[in-house]
Amino acid sequence: MLDAKTKPDNVVVSDLDIFTPENIRNPLGWHPILRDAAPVVWLSKYGVWATGRHELVNEILKDYKTYCSSAGVGLANFHKEEPWRPPSLLLEADPPDHTGRREVAGRVMSHANLRRMKATFEKEAALLVDRLLDKDDVNGVDDIAQAYILKVFPDAIGLKPEGRENLLPYGNMVFNGFGPRNEIFDEAMKRAAPISEYIMKCCTREELSTDGLGAQVYEACDNGEISEHEALFIVRSYLGAGLDTTVDTIGNVINAFASYPEQWTKLRQDPSRMRAAIEEVIRFDSPFQGVFRTAARDVEIGGVQIAEDDKILVAPGAANHDPRRWDNPDEFDIDRDASGHMGFGYGIHECVGQVIARLEMEALFGEMVKRVERIEPVGPTQRRLNNTLHGFEKLPVKLVGAAAN
Ligand code: HEM
Repeated sequence: MLDAKTKPDNVVVSDLDIFTPENIRNPLGWHPILRDAAPVVWLSKYGVWATGRHELVNEILKDYKTYCSSAGVGLANFHKEEPWRPPSLLLEADPPDHTGRREVAGRVMSHANLRRMKATFEKEAALLVDRLLDKDDVNGVDDIAQAYILKVFPDAIGLKPEGRENLLPYGNMVFNGFGPRNEIFDEAMKRAAPISEYIMKCCTREELSTDGLGAQVYEACDNGEISEHEALFIVRSYLGAGLDTTVDTIGNVINAFASYPEQWTKLRQDPSRMRAAIEEVIRFDSPFQGVFRTAARDVEIGGVQIAEDDKILVAPGAANHDPRRWDNPDEFDIDRDASGHMGFGYGIHECVGQVIARLEMEALFGEMVKRVERIEPVGPTQRRLNNTLHGFEKLPVKLVGAAAN
């Protein structure tokens, strides 16, 4: 077996560090470096493999037997390091353990189950647009993305109003926790104890409403499909993965249309392209930049020999701009067929919450496209620093109202 700690011979070695503040803010800067160096490169700073090529990212995410998730989907290798939290029973699990839990988590988050929520999401979107239309000082992150998601998503799960201020900080811990133990990680973990305590409590059956999605997960444990412990961890997965991701994506959508107003005009002319337009943003400005797998056996890929227990970074954001797969990948065009992007992952761990994320975003932007003529940038934007997710901290815009028909 190769030794993962030392540089293997005859491979392309790169000193690229995707976790510097500059690279976090501007992934388009490092994507081509990673993709063009070699199909698979050795990142010397962290002693891990990496690929940003569409074909290989796809191959690795598809082959869950060779590239496992149970040793962690961040930089840490759970076979060698203690995870900072009890691992996720979905994201950080392999079949057969993963299979039954995923079945339940997916059924609760299925379109058949969620479509009844559409009207509520649309009502909340309309109320939000009422409040923000033509105001001069709207922060697309706090005032739009967070305000909307922090209302509709916890309501849908069935959380009590008290303590919701812990939800985004928890997501921040989860997604920074996938990276190295850098300053961003330390900052996110400052209040880890009370935040984790809230999360573990609010996911219990007693704390959840009886008519929300969380309660439906517990119904599967009454049917004997999963244990009470698994139900709690599935609800925890929803909360860890269901807020920041969507908040960042909404911010990226707002920014894309503020930066390319002609695309907004095009969407207003044909709102039936809404779903395709959101998919194109997820391809073009992917909220999920990197995820790790661990080799479950020695394997050859992209011309290199990877040893059992080596970690490999796959970069969906880079794959979504790979010119080997896409024509003019750095162009934002809502007429593009963006299917095949891996912004929601791929394979057995592909995002289980994508249906609710799409419903939320289609309701929000569906309302905006009817009533907002232009999303006008009104000040400098600021990207947020996060070891995994790519979104904004500040996004000053004005929603310029359309003349009433
Ligand atoms: C636009 C917003 C979202 C994006 C871009 C996104 C992205 C992703 C990605 C890339 C993965 C795969 C990770 C991997 O392969 O290791 C994933 C998995 C997952 N997502 Fe999402 N996600 C979003 C929204 C949500 C929402 C709203 C929920 C909550 C219901 C959610 C819950 C999950 C869970 C539980 C998993 C793990 C699934 C499994 O391991 O079987 N996500 N997501």
